Amino acid sequence: MVENYKEILYDNETLSTPRLTLRKFRKTDAEDVFEYGSDAETLEFLVWEGLKTADDAKVAIVNYYWSRPGFFAIEREGKCIGCIDLRMLPEHEKATFGYVLNRAFWGQGYMSEALSAVLALCFEKLELNRVESEHYVGNEGSGRVMEKCAMQREGLSPQKEKIKGTFRDIVHYGLTRDMYFEKRRNT
Ligand SMILES: CC(C)(COP(=O)(O)OP(=O)(O)OC[C@H]1O[C@@H](n2cnc3c(N)ncnc32)[C@H](O)[C@@H]1OP(=O)(O)O)[C@@H](O)C(=O)NCCC(=O)NCCS
Repeated sequence: MVENYKEILYDNETLSTPRLTLRKFRKTDAEDVFEYGSDAETLEFLVWEGLKTADDAKVAIVNYYWSRPGFFAIEREGKCIGCIDLRMLPEHEKATFGYVLNRAFWGQGYMSEALSAVLALCFEKLELNRVESEHYVGNEGSGRVMEKCAMQREGLSPQKEKIKGTFRDIVHYGLTRDMYFEKRRNT
């Protein structure tokens, strides 16, 4: 892993994909963030309790999203349609991530496109050894996003967490540096 990972994150605060721009959040994203952050179906499999007002979204952007390196707004044609949040664990030379997309844009390959760009940042620029994440059973679309980006299903932890009153099984996914570059050589 590179030693100056904060500088690499700084230098890559904007990522481009064929249809999307991943960039820092702006105060003007508040209405868009409120749109997905207040939708009950979108929040079902998230620990996040969501947002009550657009003003809550603005406060979250200013106090938290904007200043967190690796916290990307996903922009499509000028609209913020979601976010992908890369969390570094430098002591293990690895990272994890979370993501959420406005429901109006589900099923069109957007999150797979965003995650591919973040994985390229992780392995090709930050030179991490591993990236991992997880999803709750029932939220199989999220597992499919990770599979489409070459991540491997590693196992299941039964009833691992109590989320919004329900015990949830968790499915773990991971991708090592070796697997990432092997996959890239073969495609
Ligand atoms: C999970 C989420 C980010 C996916 O975003 P997306 O842009 O729709 O994902 P993509 O279109 O790139 O890929 C979704 C894949 O899952 C598949 N899928 C969707 N629902 C599925 C289900 N119930 N079972 C199996 N596969 C499913 C889609 O068909 C697609 O695969 P395909 O391209 O092979 O057809 C989005 O649904 C979301 O924001 N959900 C709410 C927040 C959330 O759950 N975040 C993840 C927490 S772990």
